[in-house]
Amino acid sequence: MASTQDKPGRPGLSIDGLIAELQALSQISEAEPPVVTRLVFSEADRRARAYVKGLCAAAGLAVQEDAIGNTFARWQGSEPGLAPVGTGSHIDAIPNAGLYDGCVGVLGGLEAIRVLQQLGFKPRRSIELVIFTAEEPTRFGIGCLGSRMMASVLTPDQALALRDKEGRGLEELRAGAGFTGALESVALAAGRFDKFIELHIEQGPLLEQEGIDVGLVTHIAAPASLRIVIEGEGGHAGGKLMPGRKDALVAAAELILALELTAKSTGAIDTVGTVGVCEVFPGAVNSIPSRVRLETDIRDTDRARRDRVLDALRAACTDVAARRGVTITTALVNADPPATCDPMIVAALEASAVEAGKTCKRMVSRAYHDSLFMARIAPVAMLFIPCRGGVSHRPDEYASPGWIGSGVHVLARTLARLAS
Ligand code: GLV
Ligand code: MN
Ligand code: MN
Repeated sequence: MASTQDKPGRPGLSIDGLIAELQALSQISEAEPPVVTRLVFSEADRRARAYVKGLCAAAGLAVQEDAIGNTFARWQGSEPGLAPVGTGSHIDAIPNAGLYDGCVGVLGGLEAIRVLQQLGFKPRRSIELVIFTAEEPTRFGIGCLGSRMMASVLTPDQALALRDKEGRGLEELRAGAGFTGALESVALAAGRFDKFIELHIEQGPLLEQEGIDVGLVTHIAAPASLRIVIEGEGGHAGGKLMPGRKDALVAAAELILALELTAKSTGAIDTVGTVGVCEVFPGAVNSIPSRVRLETDIRDTDRARRDRVLDALRAACTDVAARRGVTITTALVNADPPATCDPMIVAALEASAVEAGKTCKRMVSRAYHDSLFMARIAPVAMLFIPCRGGVSHRPDEYASPGWIGSGVHVLARTLARLAS
């Protein structure tokens, strides 16, 4: 990477500097480092935002935030009237996460801008770094909150109805983090961005296994989430005999197994089903569980096949409720369609990879990303880099400096191409 002292941005750019920034960001965590946990609107999230905004300002970018905290850092082009080329990702992190998910796309996107600055590149279109609010569903149960609202997929009224586990609403929580103003203003018009590219770790094993530098994402799989609440009958774990029990957790166990079976039996390796949350009430060892809340995550590259798994899970709820005498209610949190990446941007990424001497392959993203929603309002594509063992959403998530450098290199060339 270029190294000069007299242009905006971090002096003497090097991959070591970017890795140091990623490390510094990872220290801003609700968990003991190296474990990263950054719940949206938490104190750690606010400090992480301040850190990244400071880096953006140091690079001479004009920083703005919307009413929900989506952050836009603009490098003004020579024709400010033209819609910008966007890049970016998220900095919130699920509990017990690592330091690369999302952050590589934010700090790597910033690095790509700084590299171009230091090379003396003058963009015609502005280049805008976007830091999306709450890509992770941890706090409000729904993923991609910021980009979902930008794309008008979630209305302000629906957003205001969101609650976290403690029953705190979006209004209170965003205000506590300093974000006010009409939620209506978060929605962006199609055309606000000319194009958008998200750099991200693969979160799967293929690039590393095949020794390929970068992945060019052509499609993003369709995620869905069904929330299930089971109401049974509690009581004394010693006094209440087994016949006639209405144990909500045993009913939940049947549903968890039903989801696994259904997801495995579609015949497609692309179908996945997970129960990531199981809350048991009252949660005492000598008390029969009277209420259980499950949060399920179901995905597929094929939307109809994904929907058949959702239907089968609902049917299992009906069946288990009848057999066990419990009450089961379900609420569909989201069932999003898949997204197709723009072939022209994918081709631009490929041309840039070839120019940079990097190997690449086209692939599907099985994880969801803010690009899933940006695709509703702009042509998008994603650039993947390998991550060790395909591991993600764990503290041992790892991407090597070489992998990150390759991603930034290809991204920078592509941004230059699209902003010229
Ligand atoms: C994003 O974090 C996902 O769960 O795919
Ligand atoms: Mn994630
Ligand atoms: Mn992510």
